[in-house]
Amino acid sequence: MNLYQLVYSSVRNKTCDEKEIENILNSCKKNNPSKDITGVLLHSDQYFIQYLEGPKDIIKLYDLIKTDKRHSRPVLLSYGLLKERIFPSWHMGYKNVPKDKLEFLTDANEEDKVVFQRIINGDAVSETSATNLLVKFFKS
Ligand SMILES: Cc1cc2nc3c(=O)[nH]c(=O)nc-3n(C[C@H](O)[C@H](O)[C@H](O)COP(=O)(O)O)c2cc1C
Repeated sequence: MNLYQLVYSSVRNKTCDEKEIENILNSCKKNNPSKDITGVLLHSDQYFIQYLEGPKDIIKLYDLIKTDKRHSRPVLLSYGLLKERIFPSWHMGYKNVPKDKLEFLTDANEEDKVVFQRIINGDAVSETSATNLLVKFFKS
């Protein structure tokens, strides 16, 4: 079975408080394992960046997520074939990005910062740079 990866960014709505983040993560925990979907969800006060990997159907999950009222302005950054899973045992890893949002990338170089800024602005970034940034962030 072919493996796909998908990355998008979106704007977190004001009504989406910490309790709602917990509810989202519970949905991930409940639904993703049986669909063979793994990945990571990054969130700050203002943004979401989610990386999904699994069967082709992750695009269907994205279509559903897009309609969720807890966020808006979804921008698809990347969708394509993947050789092997990057987060095989993470049904949905998550991290909160602190307010001073770039501080977290302690070993980030200038290029990473530019990519991160472009992602949260919803600007185009190359598929590999978006994925690389998430990998660096979650695996370092
Ligand atoms: C930023 C964001 C990411 C989400 N990611 C997932 C996900 O990976 N898997 C999932 O099942 N639902 C996810 N959701 C929630 C779905 O939009 C939807 O509410 C949920 O799948 C409904 O299923 P449930 O009623 O079984 O909880 C996400 C929502 C938001 C706002």
